[in-house]
Amino acid sequence: MAEEIIDLRHFRSRQLDPLWNEQAREWRRELRWDYASTLTLVRQYVESRLLSGYVLTGSGREPLGYGFFIYDSGKGVIGDLYIRPEMRTEARAHRLLEAILETLQSTPGLRRIEAQIMPYRPDELGTVFRAAGFTAHLRKFMYQPLPAGPDDSPAQELIPWSGEAMEAAAQLIVEAYTGSVDAMINDHYRTRAGALRFLHNLVRFPGCGFFDAGASWMEMGSERLHGLILCSRIMPDVTHITQLCVWPGAQRQGLGRRLLLQARTALRSSGCQAWSLTVSAENSAALRLYESFGFATLREFDAYVWVR
Ligand SMILES: CC(C)(COP(=O)(O)OP(=O)(O)OC[C@H]1O[C@@H](n2cnc3c(N)ncnc32)[C@H](O)[C@@H]1OP(=O)(O)O)[C@@H](O)C(=O)NCCC(=O)NCCS
Repeated sequence: MAEEIIDLRHFRSRQLDPLWNEQAREWRRELRWDYASTLTLVRQYVESRLLSGYVLTGSGREPLGYGFFIYDSGKGVIGDLYIRPEMRTEARAHRLLEAILETLQSTPGLRRIEAQIMPYRPDELGTVFRAAGFTAHLRKFMYQPLPAGPDDSPAQELIPWSGEAMEAAAQLIVEAYTGSVDAMINDHYRTRAGALRFLHNLVRFPGCGFFDAGASWMEMGSERLHGLILCSRIMPDVTHITQLCVWPGAQRQGLGRRLLLQARTALRSSGCQAWSLTVSAENSAALRLYESFGFATLREFDAYVWVR
């Protein structure tokens, strides 16, 4: 029987479990990331028939791959695209992606689509995205083991993250990213409401690991938040830096470095063995900072954006 593309809502989550198990194994092996917690969330949405997407099926409707997307106030975000390793060909990935893009681009009122599908290297999906009118921005997934080392002396002016700083943090994100490539890739960085949404997702939901409050720090100035580092546990002994930003008026004075040092000290004392992050290749300031800490690029991928 020919392979088919079928609406995700026709599937129960248990039919997709073998595929998700393979995906979780692959993420753990290649990105040192326990994707199972994210998949638990995806599983619940699939079970409730709340997730839009497609499944590529082979004989007997066996799922060979799947992809999903969400609608977020006028924006479409492609959340995942995965093909089982033994079935993985460019043609299959393209077929699945084309079905998703066709649906999103023909949705009335949809003004924007964003996609960052980390396991795919640049150009594996690039031709399909570009043919559909997307622009691509190179990003790097960086990683560093954290061997035991002497503790950095704690920076007195830094205070632990507190949920009370949420509004101030949203304002800081908007100001820190103004005009940056990251604000082009992710429009949540452009408005206070968007940045608040981003922060709520990070702190409350396990979409990107579990929020690591012990490794999240900030510097409060007299009138505003000057800088912020947020981390999430993506494995029991690996943390991902989900946010690092410094208010433009306080940049280039060593705060970014101090925030990283403080987080590193906290991570080491909690037994963390490694940390990772993603950064846009164009963001030379951040890239230099991370390289000076010894982070190395583990994977390159593209962020894709389409604006109607
Ligand atoms: C990246 C960022 C957090 C750095 O914070 P910062 O407090 O300005 O950085 P520091 O003063 O601690 O600088 C540490 C090192 O980073 C590098 N760096 C920082 N700003 C730089 C710049 N404008 N150009 C080149 N290198 C820069 C340098 O290597 C610097 O070391 P040096 O001063 O000894 O040369 C800050 O620029 C920022 O908030 N940018 C916008 C948000 C962002 O891009 N976040 C990172 C997302 S992955």
